[in-house]
Amino acid sequence: MAARKLAALFAAVLQLCLCQITPEVLPEFLAPLENHTVIQGRDVFFTCVVNHLQSYKVAWIKSDSRAILAIHTHMVAHNNRLSVTHNGHNTWKLHVSNVQKNDSGTYMCQVNTDPMRSQMGYMEVVIPPDIMDDESADGMVTNEGGNIRLRCVATGSPKPIVTWKREDGRNIILRVDGQKQSLKTFVGETLELTGVLRQEMGTYLCIASNNVPPTVSKRYSVDVHFSPLVKVTNQLVVAPINSDVVLQCYVEASPHAMNTWYRDAGEKLLPSDKYVMTEHPLNEYSWQMNLTVHSLEKRDFGGYVCSSVNALGKFDGVVRLQELHLSAKTTPTTLTKNTDIRQRKKPISKNKKKSNNSNGRRGYAGGFEEGDSGNGDDDFGTTQIMTGSTQEGQRTDRPIVPSLPPPWVVVNVANLRHPSVSAILLLLLLPTTL
Ligand SMILES: *[C@@H]1O[C@H](CO)[C@@H](O)[C@H](O)[C@H]1NC(C)=O
Ligand SMILES: *[C@@H]1O[C@H](CO)[C@@H](O)[C@H](O)[C@H]1NC(C)=O
Ligand SMILES: *[C@@H]1O[C@H](CO)[C@@H](O)[C@H](O)[C@H]1NC(C)=O
Ligand SMILES: *[C@@H]1O[C@H](CO)[C@@H](O)[C@H](O)[C@H]1NC(C)=O
Repeated sequence: MAARKLAALFAAVLQLCLCQITPEVLPEFLAPLENHTVIQGRDVFFTCVVNHLQSYKVAWIKSDSRAILAIHTHMVAHNNRLSVTHNGHNTWKLHVSNVQKNDSGTYMCQVNTDPMRSQMGYMEVVIPPDIMDDESADGMVTNEGGNIRLRCVATGSPKPIVTWKREDGRNIILRVDGQKQSLKTFVGETLELTGVLRQEMGTYLCIASNNVPPTVSKRYSVDVHFSPLVKVTNQLVVAPINSDVVLQCYVEASPHAMNTWYRDAGEKLLPSDKYVMTEHPLNEYSWQMNLTVHSLEKRDFGGYVCSSVNALGKFDGVVRLQELHLSAKTTPTTLTKNTDIRQRKKPISKNKKKSNNSNGRRGYAGGFEEGDSGNGDDDFGTTQIMTGSTQEGQRTDRPIVPSLPPPWVVVNVANLRHPSVSAILLLLLLPTTL
């Protein structure tokens, strides 16, 4: 019993002596204060770990505004989004909930020694991009050759970068001081489209990004209006009696046109056992129109008109359907006809090139890209007889490439069963191409 008391006394004396011998241990930080990049609206906290605090106090200070936020766990700032927690040992946390833009800045964890000890951490508040409403996003319409201005103003922190591209992946065309630029993407809040052509119709995307997720985008529709253009795939189609034949037209129009087939006498053709019409869209402003005429009779030969009408105008294309005589006896007749056609075609084609023609039809008024409109010239005056197979290749290529149609003279042999016909055609080909 006495020994235990003695040991306790000895321990107390030893402790006292140690205190007197060792110098005062000052508070020290165990880890630096963190830096935070926080998305606005989230919660965040700074952690301050102090050893040997003794009777000193930990305070939190917003050092750029020199505002004392808290001392120990007592809140000084009148801001209910701030709070301090202490784990009862050496760790203090400053919590900031629903972080706002003005919470950005430098935060200090300070201990009131003399001189005071402190450490600092930085908080950056970022805001994901947002695109402000703009009336140009509701869709812009212009007549071909006009101008369109699309605006995409984006907010966010840091300031977002605005990039434009076309939804279908085609290039954006810019015309600045007469210089044409074709760009995959364009950077800037305002996209100025000038001298807009039909190919530039479609959906444009504005994408705003500042590396704070999520990136946002907005769709802008650009609508280009122009009067219809009709191109006849084959101006002359020759087929034998009793066969079925397909007459084709390629139509460009915006807004959407009413497309109709007529006989040249003016009779409107309606779907029946005789006639089947199809209209196949190729893109937002062009269509492939097919007219199938079943089991040809004498009265079916002659002119056919594919007519396209919209609010801006009207355009007619004419296809001639001629009888192909299968007997060898008629070969010279067919040949003469072809030569005739070729001579007649020339002036017709020239008429077509003017912006007006005598029929009061609207002509081709330009509007394609440079280089396209000139192509037709080289083809004028050449007459070609094409067999079914090469004609097929021509068909698939033609509607997609916008250029003036050459006056192809096509002998349609799709429905012939006579093997001798191709031989006759080859004979026809020789004199005409010489
Ligand atoms: C916080 O950022 C400052 C300045 O950029 C830097 O000096 C410091 O080391 C950073 N602190 C941490 C814990 O990374
Ligand atoms: C910070 O912004 C919030 C709203 O965004 C506001 O309520 C608060 O008063 C602002 N605080 C300071 C110190 O400006
Ligand atoms: C139009 O006719 C061509 C040739 O016969 C054919 O290849 C094409 O598929 C037809 N298109 C439609 C929509 O019927
Ligand atoms: C086309 O017709 C308009 C009036 O209808 C006329 O003013 C213009 O000169 C004509 N252009 C050509 C190339 O004939």
